[in-house]
Amino acid sequence: MRLASGHVAIQLPDDEMKRILKDFEGFSKGLVRLSPGGWVLPAPYTKFADKIYNTKFRASDVVIMTYPKCGTTWTQEVVWTMRNNPNLDHPKASLPVNVRSPFIDSDMLMETGRGDTGQPTFHEEMLKKVVPDADPKEGIALQLTAHIPDPRTIKTHLPFSLMTPDLLDTAKVIYVARNPKDVVLSFLHHSRLIKGIGYIGTLEQYVDYFVKDELIYGPYWEHLREAWPRRDHPNMHFLFYEDMKADPKAELRKLNQFLGTDLTEEQLEKIAHYTSFEEMKKREAQTVLPKEMQSHFKEEVKKKDGGFYRKGQAGGWKSQLNDMQVAKIDIWAKKNSLKLGIKFKHSA
Ligand code: A3P
Repeated sequence: MRLASGHVAIQLPDDEMKRILKDFEGFSKGLVRLSPGGWVLPAPYTKFADKIYNTKFRASDVVIMTYPKCGTTWTQEVVWTMRNNPNLDHPKASLPVNVRSPFIDSDMLMETGRGDTGQPTFHEEMLKKVVPDADPKEGIALQLTAHIPDPRTIKTHLPFSLMTPDLLDTAKVIYVARNPKDVVLSFLHHSRLIKGIGYIGTLEQYVDYFVKDELIYGPYWEHLREAWPRRDHPNMHFLFYEDMKADPKAELRKLNQFLGTDLTEEQLEKIAHYTSFEEMKKREAQTVLPKEMQSHFKEEVKKKDGGFYRKGQAGGWKSQLNDMQVAKIDIWAKKNSLKLGIKFKHSA
């Protein structure tokens, strides 16, 4: 199937899908691989791809673009708060992050993860609140994106090539990158937690999936490769998770300038505190894992290994990956990062 972006999407062959389904119980609707790029995505992506690609962005939009688990939600909360809630008194601040700051490409994930109860899902209910006459089949996230008031802060895990080519000339983009060794552990946990992914394999196998570019939204390095050369574009802000972690206030100051939000030092100080790991963790049950979504995640994984906000560390991999796993990632990272000229903190 040819997409508006020019990519061709092909269903993964049965034998490959059979192998993946043994480890990822949630991908029952299948996966597609796109050419060029090798992007791996849930099969329902093809239903929404052209609508996402043809989305009209506005000058007042800020798009937060990331490979999964690089600090997207943190950045969404920081940016949404800076733009909409500078004095921390917004009445809707406790709504789920993805309702305030829509995740434009998430319809394919909701499709994948939806149960068959016949009842409106939590996401459908949320959409009705914001857009009463909306038809969820047209895409919940797409319609939320279209109808939330300006200024919009929009999340995507898609790379530049799957978004409209004039994105960066129209809207502002914040690209967040994170050390792949921490990403793989964070993504492993997420893949076990969320039933729509339903990972039941080992860490060892998961590292193999990662370095073979078989996880959804990958290849990881290709995602970065499309963003990194654009880092000096005036509408682009390139952010590292590790820098946010080391000095959040300094990064908020840079964002203040990039976004033109004109916040005072005192406001930035309060927002840095409000968006710290500890404070966001306290709001987890409202903003990312509401009880209405309990059927979408595995309670036992949440209890054992943590919720959506797991550890929030930079370099946490050092106590969790063994030498063999580190070596596999190092070989793969060296080959790719040298080509790009990109260096991550906490790499060794
Ligand atoms: P860990 O799993 O390593 O804890 P994303 O939002 O892109 O899915 O990324 C999720 C990762 O960002 C998780 O990493 C999560 O804990 C971390 N994170 C979220 N909010 C954070 C914060 N305020 N400070 C530090 N890390 C945060």
